[in-house]
Formats: sequence, C-alpha cells, structure tokens
Amino acid sequence: MRLDYKEQYLEGSSQGRATPISVFEALGPIQEDLERLHGILPTLIEAETETGREILNYLFAQPGKRIRPSLFLLTAKLVGYDGPHKLQVAAICEYIHTASLLHDDVVDNSMLRRGIATANSKWGNQAAVLVGDLVYSTACELMALTGSRDLIKTFAHAICRMSDGELLQLENIGNPYISRDVYFKVLEGKTGMLLGASAAAAGYLSGSSNEVTDGLFAFGNNLGMAFQLIDDILDYSSSSQKLGKPILQDIREGKVTIPLLITRDLATSSEQGELCRIISNRRQSETELAYISLLIEKYNALALASKIADSYTEKSLAGLRSAFPKSKERDELESLTLALLARKY
Ligand code: IPE
Ligand code: IPE
Ligand code: MG
Ligand code: MG
Repeated sequence: MRLDYKEQYLEGSSQGRATPISVFEALGPIQEDLERLHGILPTLIEAETETGREILNYLFAQPGKRIRPSLFLLTAKLVGYDGPHKLQVAAICEYIHTASLLHDDVVDNSMLRRGIATANSKWGNQAAVLVGDLVYSTACELMALTGSRDLIKTFAHAICRMSDGELLQLENIGNPYISRDVYFKVLEGKTGMLLGASAAAAGYLSGSSNEVTDGLFAFGNNLGMAFQLIDDILDYSSSSQKLGKPILQDIREGKVTIPLLITRDLATSSEQGELCRIISNRRQSETELAYISLLIEKYNALALASKIADSYTEKSLAGLRSAFPKSKERDELESLTLALLARKY
C-alpha cells in the first residue's frame, strides 16, 4: 500500500544531485511501520475534552513529512532494534515535533501549516498551547514506558534546547546584526537536537555503546542542521503551495536566516544600511521585499547557503560512515539523508 497522504510533500525530486531516489522512495523500507504509526498517533493521547479530541483529530489527519520518526525507524533497523517500544518511540519523535509546532505557530502567530489553517488560527492560542501540552506530556509517558534513562534524558534535553532555541530566536527578532554563531545555535536548538535524539534513541533501545549512541546523535544533529538550513533557503526559493506554509515569511517574522546573513555580509555598506533598515523596520512593503530578493540574487546567497547545508550533510554522513560499516541499512539512512538535502519542498 502506498502512503498517499505523504505524496504532496514527498515526491520532491533529487534532481541535479548524486542521489538516486526521492524522500518518498527513501522511506520505502519503513513504509509499513509508518502506516502503523499513522494509525496509532491519534489514539495514544488521552484527551477527554471535546476540544482536545477535535484539535488532535484535525492535526493528525494532516500529517507532515514524518522525518523524525523515519530517522528513528531507519536507525532502529541499522542497530537491529525491533523490540516492543519501536512504535512508541516513533510516536515520541512525532509527538515532540507536533507539540513544538503547535507552540511555534502560536509564538509566530502563523495561520497556515501543512496547507491548512493552524490550530491557533482555528481554535485560538489558549487551546493550541494546551493541546501542545497534552501532546508533550503523552510523549513523556511513552518515554517512561521504555524504561531507558538515557532515552528519557536525551529527549527531555532536546525539548529543553528546542524551547531555549526558540527563545534565543525571539531575543533576536528584527535584529539585523545577529551573528552567525547565534543563528547556528538557534538551528541546533530548534531542529538539530530533536533529530539527534531521534537517531540516538534507537541506540539506547538496542543497548549500543556510548560511542555508538554519541555517533548516532551527532549524525542526526548534523542532519537536522542541514534540514533547517534548507528550510530557511526554501522560505526564499520555493512556493507556498509546495511548502504548505507561506514563503518570504521569515523576514516578515523578523527572522534573519542564512540567505540574509550571507547577503548582509557581502553587501556594500549602502546596501547593508538599507538591508538593516528593512529588517529592523518589520511590516515590510512588497517593494522592500522585492529589494531583498534582488540582493539575495545579486550575491548568489541561496547557492552559497546550499553549500553550507551540504557541508552539514557531509558531516552527518561522514559520522555515520565512520561509526558503521557499509550495509543495506546504512545505505538506507544515507539515501534519506541525501534525499532530504535535495528536497525542493
Ligand atoms: C517544520 O518541520 C519545522 C522545521 C524544523 C523546519 P518539518 O518540515 O519536518 O514539518 P512537517 O512535520 O513536515 O510539517
Ligand atoms: C519551527 O521553527 C519550530 C521548531 C523547529 C521548534 P520555524 O518557526 O522556523 O519553522 P516554521 O517555518 O514555522 O515551520
Ligand atoms: Mg514558525
Ligand atoms: Mg518559529
């Protein structure tokens, strides 16, 4: 059976890269588990309220790319874990992500996600935050069921860093002078840590050595950095229809991401002055946004940003290759990594 619900996001091609398959194809080896996960996700959360149930059904009826549980499931195959907690941990990965998006859309006052209205725009901020808490706490219960202290600690730490990453980003909203170090710290907190935890979780469950679980964490973390860099690039280069969320949104939200950082650092001083004025001004006009796009193009910033994303992907692959000998399972993880790098939406 094909996972039709995924196709709108995952049929992205790997054109122009040395990757043989798309993200959709890369998930082929775990398709059955992903379908089972799709079935259980709405059922594990004990919401007794009508509002809670309504929002949860709404959310899980419109799944995203399922990158985090996929990373866990492919890593579980790599380390040979096929035990009773497999689907529970896949659910933890997706629940933490779902809860973070519920809260993030409140923080960002976002109206559109996965091509549909956000929970906050339909039910209000209060309900969206509270359902986010329901989802987070269910993830905690599932963590306890695994009985793995390392797994609990790593996921809890990832949640902590995600929140702190979002706060660091908040502190720098509309700040045109944000340093690259701070930007990369935000990326690691927002995205790298949860992907790292999702990959390392399989190592904890299989009783792998610290060296192996650390290696898996670094692999997922670097992959997450590349993934978020590409997300930040797509905000300037893709379309709202393909992404399922608005484009040119980061600058509107006052977020200075990699294409802008590169442009800022290469621009002439008069261009820099104008750029900084537009960034800190907020509520940019269409003419100002067009000016920014033009500067980004002038300095080839999207291609330069892709190179940085490539370097994180290379780092993640190098780590994986040094920790595990070549195998079918390692190839499957490499394919997913390369396909994610090539995604266009
Ligand atoms: C969105 O994550 C937030 C980022 C970290 C870029 P995804 O792009 O994985 O979201 P879904 O789950 O596929 O919608
Ligand atoms: C997503 O961050 C939230 C987390 C990863 C915690 P963003 O705000 O940058 O992503 P989108 O654009 O809403 O998906
Ligand atoms: Mg957001
Ligand atoms: Mg955000």
